[in-house]
Amino acid sequence: MLCVSWLLLCLLVPTRQQESETPNSFAECTDGYEWDPERQYCKDINECQRIPDACKGEMKCINHYGGYLCLPRSASVISDSHTESAIHEQPPSQPDTFEQQPNPCPAGYQPDSQGLGTCVDMDECAFELHDCLPSQECVNIPGSFHCKCPEGYRKIGTECVDIDECRYRYCQHRCVNSPGSFTCQCEPGFQLASNNRSCVDVNECSMGAPCQQRCYNTYGTFLCRCNQGYELDRDGHTCNDIDECSYSSYLCQHECVNEPGRFSCICPEGYQLLGTRLCQDINECETDAHSCSETQTCVNFHGGFRCVEKNRCKEPFIQVSDNRCMCPSGNQLCRDEPGSVVYRYMSITSDRSVPSDIFQIQATSVYPGAYNTFQIRSGNEQGDFYIRQINNISAMLVLARPVTGPQEFVLDLEMLTANSLLSYRSSSVLRLTVFVGGYAF
Ligand SMILES: *[C@@H]1O[C@H](CO)[C@@H](O)[C@H](O)[C@H]1NC(C)=O
Ligand SMILES: *[C@@H]1O[C@H](CO)[C@@H](O)[C@H](O)[C@H]1NC(C)=O
Repeated sequence: MLCVSWLLLCLLVPTRQQESETPNSFAECTDGYEWDPERQYCKDINECQRIPDACKGEMKCINHYGGYLCLPRSASVISDSHTESAIHEQPPSQPDTFEQQPNPCPAGYQPDSQGLGTCVDMDECAFELHDCLPSQECVNIPGSFHCKCPEGYRKIGTECVDIDECRYRYCQHRCVNSPGSFTCQCEPGFQLASNNRSCVDVNECSMGAPCQQRCYNTYGTFLCRCNQGYELDRDGHTCNDIDECSYSSYLCQHECVNEPGRFSCICPEGYQLLGTRLCQDINECETDAHSCSETQTCVNFHGGFRCVEKNRCKEPFIQVSDNRCMCPSGNQLCRDEPGSVVYRYMSITSDRSVPSDIFQIQATSVYPGAYNTFQIRSGNEQGDFYIRQINNISAMLVLARPVTGPQEFVLDLEMLTANSLLSYRSSSVLRLTVFVGGYAF
């Protein structure tokens, strides 16, 4: 009996003389065999049945001629027990031809067939003189023979035991042992290379990764990214539109409109976009977008335009130019009227900071020694404006209070001219229409 310790395995192997010995009596049976008086031969003892707990722990017991094997439960063993016992129950016998004449050659050799008196190798495999198990391949060698296990099995004693290739780190990632073989497996995100052992990265992006917009392959996995204006959802692959408008109220001068992946600014009617966020008044009078007739003058203001009649002069006034009416001094009706009325238009935005100079009045004709005074004759009932005299010939109209549009003021700004030397005195009116736009731009 031989006990070999190999990888938690204890092995009891019969000695080879056992098989060639002719069992004659009870006493001659070697360890692991017992005398069968009925059939008159040494019979193998099935230790796995006979000995309680023949193998400790989780080992499995495998009966074997003259002994038994303890193997890990996972170990795969080719069992030839039926055919094997058939072979072993017959006492080994040599073919008749060899028994008749004693062989003068050493074991494993036989006299040559030509009678030259030399010994040649006996092919035990061809003459069934071997004890290889059916699962094993008999290989003839000079003077003997060898029982070869199938690939993936290792010979332990006479048994063929599966080699656990996974112990030898054949696989880059995971190894799965199987009887006689093994397979390599790869972690998710990798696939088996052509050598069936290494694992190579899978490019998920080219294999239908679920990224909604952009996909980046990385080692072992992939990443989804979104285009500008989108952000990645918690699910890792959906891209959600970013509502830029909700982030800041300063993105647009007037109104922000969120769109998929971007935003845009819009301007109120009468305005156009200047760049991306600012609004600029459209001058309808310059762009022919107005509907004024030949007898009208187009007046642009913040957010719109106005068509005004060129001839606005009413009795006793007479028209002297497109924007000027005169009251002839000879006309009695003109005694309490200003000598002339000039029409002017201007536009300001809402909510200007105050005080704010908005319009400069200038005397057109200057006589030596003349003295001009300026005042607001009408249209300033709320006191939104005042006049600041600059010098004898000019003054500034000042916005005194914040005004919000859309609204308009019609101010009569009177200029009184006096000349003490010539005892000359005259009055002229500047009828100024002030449009206040609806917005601060
Ligand atoms: C890898 O495995 C496949 C399928 O089992 C086989 O056809 C191929 O020959 C193997 N390649 C190598 C290099 O072992
Ligand atoms: C303004 O009027 C005053 C008073 O008549 C006069 O003394 C002065 O010279 C005038 N100044 C100018 C710049 O005309």
